[in-house]
Amino acid sequence: MCGIFGYFGSRLAYPLLLNGLRRLEYRGYDSAGLSVLDGGVRTLKAVGKVKNLEALLDTCPLAGSVGIAHTRWATHGVPSTQNAHPHQDCSGKIAVVHNGIIDNYKALRTLLESQGHVFTSDTDTEVVAHLVEEFYEGELEEAVRKAMLELEGTYGLAVVHADEHKIVAARKGSPLVLGIGEGEYFLASDPTAIAEHTRNVIYLDDFNVLTLAEDGYRVTDLTKAPIDPKVEKITWEVEEIERGGFPYFMLKEIYEQPSRILDTCRGRMNPSAGEVYLGGLREVSDRLLKARRIVISSCGTSWHAGLVGEYLIESLAKIPVEVEYSTELVCKEPMLGPEDVFIAVSQSGETADTLAALRLASSRGALTLGIVNVVGSSIARQTDAGAYIHVGPEIGVASTKAFTGHLTAFVLLAVYLGRLRGSLEASQASQILTELAAIPAHIERILERNEDIREIARVYSRSSNFLYLGRGINFPIALEGALKLKEVSYIHAEGIPSAEMKHGPISLVDETMPVLFILSKGDGSTRVLGNMEEIRARKGRIVAIVPEGEERATAYADHLIRVPEVHELLSPFLSVIPLQLLAYHAAEIRGCDVDKPRNLAKAVTVQ
Ligand code: AGP
Repeated sequence: MCGIFGYFGSRLAYPLLLNGLRRLEYRGYDSAGLSVLDGGVRTLKAVGKVKNLEALLDTCPLAGSVGIAHTRWATHGVPSTQNAHPHQDCSGKIAVVHNGIIDNYKALRTLLESQGHVFTSDTDTEVVAHLVEEFYEGELEEAVRKAMLELEGTYGLAVVHADEHKIVAARKGSPLVLGIGEGEYFLASDPTAIAEHTRNVIYLDDFNVLTLAEDGYRVTDLTKAPIDPKVEKITWEVEEIERGGFPYFMLKEIYEQPSRILDTCRGRMNPSAGEVYLGGLREVSDRLLKARRIVISSCGTSWHAGLVGEYLIESLAKIPVEVEYSTELVCKEPMLGPEDVFIAVSQSGETADTLAALRLASSRGALTLGIVNVVGSSIARQTDAGAYIHVGPEIGVASTKAFTGHLTAFVLLAVYLGRLRGSLEASQASQILTELAAIPAHIERILERNEDIREIARVYSRSSNFLYLGRGINFPIALEGALKLKEVSYIHAEGIPSAEMKHGPISLVDETMPVLFILSKGDGSTRVLGNMEEIRARKGRIVAIVPEGEERATAYADHLIRVPEVHELLSPFLSVIPLQLLAYHAAEIRGCDVDKPRNLAKAVTVQ
């Protein structure tokens, strides 16, 4: 996902632009660039890390107190200096940075080339620079507005012109946040690049046009009508986006989980009374009461959280639940209607596939809820209601604390729905909520075993493949553990329901195929022990995640990781922690870029 940062003020721009790009590195990128207004538009670009751009600036510092900058995650055109942003027009007076995809860029490029425009890159973005140039008649804001009318697809844009001391920005489908400082303004794709400067922000909406000028900021719509957007406050502290002594954000965020689960619960439950309070759902409670079915839609780790949510809601609220990959939901004609509840689960709130599924559900009249982490994100703003998980900014590309934050939100939602619809007694709700309140302490105990888990990761860090097996509510955890291992250590891993092994995958097992089992106290554990025996008989090496007190697994496992025993429905909170640590340590031991794995972005804002 690309990153945009802009500065308008009186300080030297380029150091601030570089710092803003460093704050956005976690989003994933392959090149970077910036433009400043310095007697004209001065542009520098570099392939690779922001430090390569910084090296250019060390030799060629730029004056100017207004500028725009960009980290590019390539969608159209290979990572190269020519394809890096900012992109300029023929006159060299206009520079544009863009996050999103211009769907009709080929047609626009053909038209613009027929009008004499000469292109220098393979990107979709460059058409914006030439389009603005085509419409420019002395007023940049107006030229950008006209260009927007021609663009199809998604964009977060920032544009400068050599003849105007301004930045003009616009969005459709890709986030842009304005930071309001003391006599200066900051523009960014997300608030992590703004928080150290100001806590006063405006989350732009689709089709907003923002102009930053000497006389302040102005927001208008496509008809030039003024808009008076709400100024909101960033609620978290800057140190939350620092590593705080940890070698990687991923490890920091794994260790944050106990406190973050408490943050998600804060003010939302009374365990002794068996009550849950979700203020964001109050206005839609009547529709929740009558809901026929729940459809959960998300991607990746958030999809795994949705699978756990299915077990929780069906067990506690007795409502039928379907969990869909957002990427797949948009490929079919979903039977969604006004009696259905559609839940979009997302850490970033910007995942294009989930946004597309959300819009489809909305068009069918379903009640749409968002379970999201990033405040003010697109999914949070486009759903009818919802609940933030409040786990703070998640910087590591591999999602960890947001996953357990989503699990927490699903426990609260399942209890809330169960109590609302009368399918859950207060005493049952009280038991679940009391056990939920104890989960952070249980996780702390698992984290104390980090070094033991690191040694197990070392044993398997040279493996090429891994099978992760889980049953029931822990099958989604097998999927999640496999995804974590894949995405940060590049070891191929596959999550499979434990009992499915005998239906094919067991053919993979020999002494070179390690197999990880997740056991919990349910009745499935006996059957899983049988699955372990089948693997053992074929010389497969076994790692087992087992509840304390489960001694039978000792006979089959090469390595045991014990976790505290809890209610079956809450066991995913604990079984996932060793899997997060195994993935982290395997990646670190293999010398991988743990926080920024190759090819990955923190939020995938393109479909
Ligand atoms: C998880 O570790 C991955 N980074 C990825 O699967 C992620 O969960 C997925 O892209 C969905 O992102 P979202 O939660 O921001 O919508």
